[in-house]
Amino acid sequence: MTDLTTLEADVLAQVAAAGDLAALDAVRVAALGKTGSISGLLKTLGAMSPDERKERGAAINVLRDRAQTALNDKKAALEAAALDARLASETLDLTLPAPYRRKGSVHPTMQTMDEMVAIFAEMGFAVAEGPDIEDDFHNFTALNFPPKHPAREMHDTFFFNTKEDGERMLLRTHTSPVQVRTMLSQKPPIRIIAPGRTYRMDSDATHTPMFHQVEGLVIDKGIHMGHLKWTLETFLARFFESDTVTTQFRPHHFPFTEPSAETDVQCDRSGGEIKIGQGTSWLEILGCGMVHPNVLRACGIDPDEYQGFAFGMGVDRLGMLKYGMPDLRDMFASDGRWLAHYGFSAFAAPNAASGLS
Ligand code: DAH
Repeated sequence: MTDLTTLEADVLAQVAAAGDLAALDAVRVAALGKTGSISGLLKTLGAMSPDERKERGAAINVLRDRAQTALNDKKAALEAAALDARLASETLDLTLPAPYRRKGSVHPTMQTMDEMVAIFAEMGFAVAEGPDIEDDFHNFTALNFPPKHPAREMHDTFFFNTKEDGERMLLRTHTSPVQVRTMLSQKPPIRIIAPGRTYRMDSDATHTPMFHQVEGLVIDKGIHMGHLKWTLETFLARFFESDTVTTQFRPHHFPFTEPSAETDVQCDRSGGEIKIGQGTSWLEILGCGMVHPNVLRACGIDPDEYQGFAFGMGVDRLGMLKYGMPDLRDMFASDGRWLAHYGFSAFAAPNAASGLS
């Protein structure tokens, strides 16, 4: 029996000494493989007497089981150690600063729009919305554009194909249809702005087929041009962050307002850049006027009881003026370098308390 005891001690020592899975497998093959030391012992049983074979066979099986158990335990330990080593070598330090990559930024149009919303919200205006795909009624008819009137063509409208019922949908040419939708769904007093996308067939340094407008509408009793002038001057002073904003209201024509005006701000263009609040030039900023009685009537509001003013301005254009971008088309070219230069940090969200820009 001592040969079995020695062999067991020998195999267990080799198992313990195996430093990796390959060495351990070599030990397994040398002991339990077809020509291994323990397998070889089993082959000697055939030549023994039955009694001897019974006793010797049981002892060899015990030895084989112990060797197998030791091999299994060692294999599990080596695998666990290998996993620990891999986890340790692949550790990520999440507190390290990220490598430099081009940062995402807020598009100047969105920043400008957020500034406008922040200013008007502080002045008590709610934000209203409408669809980009409009019908003729909301974009033109209810806004007092006569049928077949050239003013409808004036906007270089993108029309969709005529539907079976003869209706022709369009991409809204201005945010003014949101006025109509608001007046049809709310009772006065109304005080809203409507920021959004607008579309016209036009493209040059100051026009793009898609651009953004902010529309404003106030409906209440006793509203007059003085309210309109104060509202716009207050807004423009805050927007251009200037104490002195001088405006000029030039008579104009819009079908949906009477009287109508275009508003200019005094500015200085002498130094190559535009400075608001000084100088001898005028910069056209927006269109506005008193809501036409026909528009009020089309929206179920009695013009003898309620009056209102409205205005509309180009967001991208105001952003260009404020932040000094020369070409409107660059705004929508999706050039990463342009965005890296003109974009705003997402942490610089404009609000009345911490500043607008
Ligand atoms: N809808 C006009 C445009 O796109 C802008 C405008 C002018 C809107 C006067 C108004 C307004 O509400 O009163 O050219």
